[in-house]
Amino acid sequence: MPGRIPQSFVDDLITRTDIVDIIDSRVPLKKAGSEYKACCPFHDEKTPSFTVSPTKQFYHCFGCSAHGTVIGFLMEFEHMEFVEAVEYLASRLGLEVPREGESAPAKKKTETADIFTVLDESASYYQQQLRHHSQANEAIDYLKQRGLTGEISAHFGLGYAPPGWDNLLRHLTNKKYQHNLLLQAGLITRKSENRHYDRFRNRIMFPIQNHRGQVIGFGGRALGDEEPKYLNSPETPVFHKGSELYGLYRARPHIKEAGKALVVEGYMDVVALSQFELNNSVATLGTATTRTQLERLFRHTDEVVFCFDGDRAGREAAWRALETALPCLREGRQISFLFLPQGEDPDSVVRAEGKTGFEAKLANAVPLPDYLLQQLSASSDLSRIDGRARFIELAKPMLQKVPDGAFRELMLNRVAQLAQIDRETLNRTLPSPESVPKKPIIDSGLVRKSLVRLGLSLLIQRPHLAKKAGDVSELQHLELPGIQLFIEITQLAQQHPDMTSAALLERYRGTEYHKHLEKLAVWDHMITTEDLDQEFDAVMRQLKERWMSQQATQLLHKTHLSESEKSKLRELLQNRRSK
Ligand code: CTP
Ligand code: MN
Repeated sequence: MPGRIPQSFVDDLITRTDIVDIIDSRVPLKKAGSEYKACCPFHDEKTPSFTVSPTKQFYHCFGCSAHGTVIGFLMEFEHMEFVEAVEYLASRLGLEVPREGESAPAKKKTETADIFTVLDESASYYQQQLRHHSQANEAIDYLKQRGLTGEISAHFGLGYAPPGWDNLLRHLTNKKYQHNLLLQAGLITRKSENRHYDRFRNRIMFPIQNHRGQVIGFGGRALGDEEPKYLNSPETPVFHKGSELYGLYRARPHIKEAGKALVVEGYMDVVALSQFELNNSVATLGTATTRTQLERLFRHTDEVVFCFDGDRAGREAAWRALETALPCLREGRQISFLFLPQGEDPDSVVRAEGKTGFEAKLANAVPLPDYLLQQLSASSDLSRIDGRARFIELAKPMLQKVPDGAFRELMLNRVAQLAQIDRETLNRTLPSPESVPKKPIIDSGLVRKSLVRLGLSLLIQRPHLAKKAGDVSELQHLELPGIQLFIEITQLAQQHPDMTSAALLERYRGTEYHKHLEKLAVWDHMITTEDLDQEFDAVMRQLKERWMSQQATQLLHKTHLSESEKSKLRELLQNRRSK
């Protein structure tokens, strides 16, 4: 378990980094007097009110009051975690991030940086091979036959892994990369103790980039009918199939511009669509769409269209995607499904029908609610009472996954209508969304787990969660260590909804809490981003429950209760029973 990053190191990083460089490479800045300006990346605006001060090493937006240090900026703009931002800044300066209580330098972290380097080196190698290898003709012919231009191949950095067992291996070993690193990067496979060979042989290589544009893995397509048709990098410390999306790095600005993202199944589909100027598509990495991937897309747009084959596999994939998407549905977000004719995929359709043909199909994508109700009602006979009951039973678990809000309400109305019962009756058959069982939280060992600590740590790492807490002042007499600090920070973050973690921490610098809070800020509580909201809700719910049970216990120990105390106790006990 890594120790804490020394504060002196973070200070040093901030001193040695120029915030102007970091921001300028992401949001081009214009000099304005002693400061720099741009249109704010955190809200929509036409005239620049986003200001970066080289002297203060701070950014500030007069429009939306976003502000912070370079670390805060990376956290907000790149959605990095605190530790990730520190690591990023350190790697730019060629520094290793030290951890307290560690004599040797942070070994694991160095490896991550090395993995990125060797992957980048490999991507260049494969690209070179596509141009210069003696057998590259075969690969180029294949790409041509698939209708790809040289330009689009270059745009996506496509490459060629030549036939043979150790082309890449030899190339990289000559450059002094160790076998162990190549194994970790997923580039080679171990045959026996000292025998290794290239994972990708005689394949068209699709480099896969993360949200920062770094190569994290590859998809390799066979040139003919060899099996497997696609071979992907394995899971590595930098490549997680469940959270990355092929093409997202390039598609990001286009998704923003088009106002929607298109999710397709194949790498080739993304490339082909882009060739026809449909640049807002991304592909999953050979697995079903995950919630993490969807949440990632929803950071860039409110509208996602899934594009699947019209065959059974495609419909099954669509249904799985629908189930995954339900918990992400909030007001303003829209999901729809485009089903292509049997045997077609986006690649073949766009090549046959062109951009406008494809767009015409897109315009007819089926909205998720329609698709959901269509499917559910198709499998029950709504003209019969037992059919309608079945329909309700099928709809219930699906709607339970949708967060509370207008969307869920409207769907329930529709279900009630179709089932010909009134909303009241339908409501009675639904369990409250809170009673959905929670996943256990894993203790990281770095910080001793407690409810308040977990709550604090979530809050510091994601101050925006505070708005979900509601009025916390009622918890002030709750007898739990740290509760006062928790209340204070919640209220602070509620009053300043734009506050970043760094800024929050900054508030406590010099106080007795600072060290403690910093530890919590880097505490990896092993909760995936998608579960943070839920986890924080669970903390709040448990804190409120503790408060109720504390009150109940106090009342139960009293010998004489007033009328109002009696009714309060009844209420508290009732509440406990219904949990
Ligand atoms: N895939 C995979 N392994 C396979 C087959 C498919 O990982 N053996 C993944 C790849 O990510 C591929 C996607 O599933 O891009 C879709 O597969 P498929 O529709 O079969 O291929 P296409 O993308 O249409 O590729 P092509 O047009 O080259 O046949
Ligand atoms: Mn295809």
